[in-house]
Amino acid sequence: MKYDFETVRKRFNTGSKKWGEMKNFGVKESEDIIPFSVADMEFVTPPEIVEAIKRELDVSIMGYENPTPEYLDTVCSWMKDKHNWDARPEWILPSHGVVDAFFQTVKTYTNEGDGVMLMTPVYYPMYHAVNFNRRTLVDNQLVNKGDHYEIDFDDFERKASDPNTKMLILCSPHNPAGRVWTREELERIGNICLKHGVLVVSDEIHFDLIMPGHVHTVYASISEEFAQNCLVLTAPSKTFNVAGLQTSNIFIPNPELREKFLSSLKLSNPNPKCNILGYVACEAAYKHCGEWLNECLKVIDSNRKAVCDFMAREFPAVKVYDLEGTYLLWMDFNDLGLDYRELERINHEEARLFFDEGYVFGKQGEGFERWNLACPSRYIHEALERMKSAYKNYV
Ligand SMILES: Cc1ncc(COP(=O)(O)O)c(C=O)c1O
Repeated sequence: MKYDFETVRKRFNTGSKKWGEMKNFGVKESEDIIPFSVADMEFVTPPEIVEAIKRELDVSIMGYENPTPEYLDTVCSWMKDKHNWDARPEWILPSHGVVDAFFQTVKTYTNEGDGVMLMTPVYYPMYHAVNFNRRTLVDNQLVNKGDHYEIDFDDFERKASDPNTKMLILCSPHNPAGRVWTREELERIGNICLKHGVLVVSDEIHFDLIMPGHVHTVYASISEEFAQNCLVLTAPSKTFNVAGLQTSNIFIPNPELREKFLSSLKLSNPNPKCNILGYVACEAAYKHCGEWLNECLKVIDSNRKAVCDFMAREFPAVKVYDLEGTYLLWMDFNDLGLDYRELERINHEEARLFFDEGYVFGKQGEGFERWNLACPSRYIHEALERMKSAYKNYV
């Protein structure tokens, strides 16, 4: 490996959300607990990004910045080279984050009471975007096949055809299910949404994190009709571990939808702007960090394999879902026969491990754990040892 994926950096008591938020869940603050929760990486950020930021700091003027033409072209080149998508610079609106962006889309394109469809269980801020804005949650539950999830298209179409359903927030790849939707699945989704006038907001933040044997399709790349009826939300933040720089790129190919988004954004923020270092990081990442990403995916895949092998050997009752994309492994502990709160307690108090508990992704997630694999392998091996001794009394 050319790059470093093994250095462990202390993040306890440094302001890291992942390490700090454990106390909100009643976990006694202690450096010995290992968190595998919030979706950022424990890997050091690629050196090309760090160097680019240092060069920017040497200029020593941290004024307001707009995205330069070179920045926009670089983002489009990444979409073309990595995702075979011909995106245009004028479609891009930089934003502070994908969550900000999907909250804004709900406010812009729907009214109070309107239906917004989610494919659940799903990334929990999507529920918040619907509920906090007093929209109606339209719940299209994914079908649990034991080791992967599928879409219930009959239910999907029934719900999309309700005239009150105005929007789908599509999680693609899907967090926490780990699915990379196939082109055929996306075509079915898109055709139903076009037929019934449902706007598609495609959150593709995990789109570069695709496991061997799978191919991600950008929703808007499928057809011109799809492109004109969607927003695509992207960011370098998950891919290159720069989430704290809060820079993402929202693509709105349809000029009317784009205008509407900008007008509504102006009500809360008349002069939207992003972080100067975020632009620098994104440009450096998309220009220079392809090789880093390839190596990173190998490390994630090897961590995945270590967990899967261990579970198959030690706890065959735990179902581990296929990881097609993201670095978030979804696991079902229900067959251990433990109440989901007891499962959480054992993890925290006995194993001294902190996962994202499945119930935060919806009721179907009770008894599941979401395991963030983007970390040095020694964390994984330590966690597996701890699980082995903590769970021996319960299986
Ligand atoms: C599906 C999905 N969307 C958005 C985000 C967060 O996006 P941002 O940090 O750009 O707001 C996450 C983070 O885990 C995610 O999994």
